[in-house]
Amino acid sequence: MSDSIFRKDGTAQGVAKQRYIETLAKPDQRVINDPYAKRFVLGASLITLMGHKLSVWITQKFAPGFHEHLISRTRFIDDLVEKNAASGSEQYIILGAGYDLRAHRLELPFSLKVFEVDQPEVQVRKRSKLPKDLPNASNVSYVGVDFNRQSLTEQLLAAGFDQSKRTIITLEGVSQYISKDATASTIKELSELTNHSGSTFFISYVDESLKNDPEACFGKGYPKATKRAETIKNLSAKVGEPWVSFFNPEEIETLLSENGFALTQNKTLADLNDEYFTPVGRRIPEHHIFKLEHFVVAESNTTAT
Ligand SMILES: C[S@@+](CC[C@H](N)C(=O)[O-])C[C@H]1O[C@@H](n2cnc3c(N)ncnc32)[C@H](O)[C@@H]1O
Repeated sequence: MSDSIFRKDGTAQGVAKQRYIETLAKPDQRVINDPYAKRFVLGASLITLMGHKLSVWITQKFAPGFHEHLISRTRFIDDLVEKNAASGSEQYIILGAGYDLRAHRLELPFSLKVFEVDQPEVQVRKRSKLPKDLPNASNVSYVGVDFNRQSLTEQLLAAGFDQSKRTIITLEGVSQYISKDATASTIKELSELTNHSGSTFFISYVDESLKNDPEACFGKGYPKATKRAETIKNLSAKVGEPWVSFFNPEEIETLLSENGFALTQNKTLADLNDEYFTPVGRRIPEHHIFKLEHFVVAESNTTAT
């Protein structure tokens, strides 16, 4: 067995770290709140000591906008899930859930059934760190799947997934780590599994221009864009989870539409600055805008009868 401190969960820890840093901001200045993130972060005591401002400043030295990008992704999905749950979705599938605690930290209707899907090793580690008195715990089922090798359908059905109910599905920060075929087959399976149920699908993807035109992935004047693009790409490889798949917007739209999902939104941090950061006095300047990952929402073309 490897003695790495990361056991398939290095990137999940990385995202949890940014959520913890954000949670340390003053309540009227923070964009998201994740009271559980700290449990999954190595060196959390040091981050607590440094506080929000210094921790964000240090992250900026690595890549301006990196923290805000991940936080805007979390907030965008929080809003989407809350809106969908309030308007009648009865099930929520979190694909590649990692250390996402949305099922417990958002105020979701008790009737919403949540299915968390990830690699079994990551789920075991997650569950060992969760508090005993977790809100909404009885509504969450854990489904252990490797997207590159296994199919989801059987496991989701065995876990009690109901094909007739309206469902929201999120694939957050995952498509870059799995093969394009695995992303395509996951979307296909979910489209078939949720057929006629009026589902909503969220997927994030890394823009393929990162490879041939890195400057396009950042705001105007972003410092050392090409070099930074390389550093960011290598960061996850260092914890054993390299980025292997990149998409262009048309490719994603086609993939979704071939599976009965119509694209309704495609956003980056540049689009969410006004909505999330300006109101809390933290507007991100153009030369710190980080937009190499897109946040896409699609709706299934069919509705429940
Ligand atoms: C960057 S983390 C994102 C976690 C979570 N969605 C978030 O945003 O906090 C990527 C997640 O994808 C999961 N993942 C990567 N490859 C996978 C695979 N082949 N099958 C299932 N899950 C996978 C990892 O275990 C990890 O939890």
